Amino acid sequence: MQINSFKQYQETYKKSVEQPEEFWSGIAENFLWKQKWNNVLSWNFNEPDIKWFEGAKLNITDNCLDRHLIENGDKAAIIWEPNDPEKDSITLTYRVLHDRVCRFANVLKKNGAKKGDRICIYMPMVPELAIAVLACARIGAIHSVVFGGFSAKSIADRINDAACKLVITADGAFRGTKQIQLKEVIDDALIGCPTIEKVIVLTHTRTPVSMLKGRDCWWEDEIKLVDANCQAEEMDAEDVLFVLYTSGSTGKPKGVVHTCGGYMVYAGYTFSNVFNYQPNEVFFCTADIGWITGHSYIVYGPLSQGATTLMFEGIPTYPDASRLWEIVEKHKVNILYTAPTAIRSLMGFGLEPLNGVDLSSLRVLGSVGEPINEEAWHWLDEEVGKKNCPIVDTWWQTETGGIMISPIAFVTPTKPSFATLPLPGIQPILVDENGNEISGNGVNGNLCIKFPWPGMLRTTYGDHERCKLTYFSTYENLYFTGDGCLRDEDGYYRITGRVDDVINVSGHRIGTAEVENALNMHAGVVESAVVGYPHEVKGQGIYAFIIYPSLSKDEDLTRKDILQTVTRVIGAIAKPDKIVFVSGLPKTRSGKIMRRILRKVAEGDTTNLGDISTLLDPAVVQEIIEKSGKI
Ligand code: WTA
Repeated sequence: MQINSFKQYQETYKKSVEQPEEFWSGIAENFLWKQKWNNVLSWNFNEPDIKWFEGAKLNITDNCLDRHLIENGDKAAIIWEPNDPEKDSITLTYRVLHDRVCRFANVLKKNGAKKGDRICIYMPMVPELAIAVLACARIGAIHSVVFGGFSAKSIADRINDAACKLVITADGAFRGTKQIQLKEVIDDALIGCPTIEKVIVLTHTRTPVSMLKGRDCWWEDEIKLVDANCQAEEMDAEDVLFVLYTSGSTGKPKGVVHTCGGYMVYAGYTFSNVFNYQPNEVFFCTADIGWITGHSYIVYGPLSQGATTLMFEGIPTYPDASRLWEIVEKHKVNILYTAPTAIRSLMGFGLEPLNGVDLSSLRVLGSVGEPINEEAWHWLDEEVGKKNCPIVDTWWQTETGGIMISPIAFVTPTKPSFATLPLPGIQPILVDENGNEISGNGVNGNLCIKFPWPGMLRTTYGDHERCKLTYFSTYENLYFTGDGCLRDEDGYYRITGRVDDVINVSGHRIGTAEVENALNMHAGVVESAVVGYPHEVKGQGIYAFIIYPSLSKDEDLTRKDILQTVTRVIGAIAKPDKIVFVSGLPKTRSGKIMRRILRKVAEGDTTNLGDISTLLDPAVVQEIIEKSGKI
């Protein structure tokens, strides 16, 4: 199923649009099914109601594990590199991984988990995280992985939204010089989570933790009580595989739902093609499994293709800025998939960290999560790839399940900061505000997709109406991505960023409404407005305008207090980079905050604020400009 030339891409693309069902069923033939489908696709974007490979039966872990045992049982499935470079790395072969997944699946069953149950996973980047994810899939339980940086309250909201029955966690996590007390956070979260019956705790950092009788048990103890026989549960193609929460422009985060069959086919197909994965290569994706990139391109995509996937526990700058490069050298990494933020932050350390490190194993470089600026693109190309490795700038989303618009390595001619062309099966369309198609080249518009693909979300957990409203109601018969996009003279796509109130901080999606809600929970804050602004390393930073009438002399302390509140409510990733105290916000007479003005001020561009005459009190603008200039 790998595409090897641009001509072949063009032909494949054409076929995928003209005969999508034939195309995707052909791709699906490369996977292991317990029973084939009766119908490739039925769909309707109005409901929305999307079904792929209806009637088919499978288990994704048969595809990620069992089917590789005969020929590749001794091949490395997961290589794990610990936070501390002095500690040993660990390699799990496919045979060992299979054994460990089956055993842990039996632990889950023993603790009452069964098909359809929701299980929350809050773990460090250790092999047991991948094992936990796969064990859920093995028994047909729905995993909901929550990134280790989220607060107790965020976890509780997610657990309650999906009515999870179990939590899988660890005592703690190592991240650079820091230790994060995961179990403690879970204990706080569970005070408000009546549906949780059991908590399974892995020993990792050996920090003391409280263990509640009847509820909490140790991974290591449980694993001794089970054997390694665990038949994979037979799943319908459209049964739910997992829920993953992501931020939108309004309200609380929503649980994006992916299903077994389509997601598997899409993650596997895109992994194999985009990165041109070759047998025995080592693939290193630097994301955390707590995000969709980790789900699709650390776990499911690579393992479904029998690849070797490298999991890194730490951060690129610990113990110093040469860590990533040393990992590449140590494990002879062939494909490196990372985020523009990481690249920009490493660029800041100059070339010294790259000196003397052997990067010659690298063959393909990938970027994901946010627009990559040309400077970072060239640095990656020249200093890391030595002008010898294609860069795949991959555009996609939690909701799309896998890569959508991207070069195919060695196939698509690249262009700095362009995600280039849609993958086979993907039909992008640009529209104006009214939903009219903007055709031709050299145009800008809102990016939509007009035809289903197997990896797309099916619903948002427990609230189908929300899925419909968020993605399928803005423009009739189209999936709306929330991104703005340029299609240049060559028909190449460049993603220009979100057009809604979502901020992309270091490649992490954060809703302005969520941050405002957290800020407003702080005693003393009367009202707040949050916007994104260009940030040299993070891509976008969070800029907060806050009305705080009883401000004391020590403004800085108040700022820190407010940041603490945000850390408590959402997590440290949502902390504003800048806080300005103001006495009023620019509102229209109907009470709507004019974010356009705040964005301009945050960008430092106050020369052309546009028409402010419709504001209730135009004088606040001057104050906001003055105060922003001071921080
Ligand atoms: C942005 C991450 C530009 C985009 C896989 C999208 C990108 C959001 C790129 C999804 C890219 C992702 N170029 N922007 N190559 N990739 N984005 O759900 O705004 O965490 O809508 O999925 O990230 O973020 P999410």
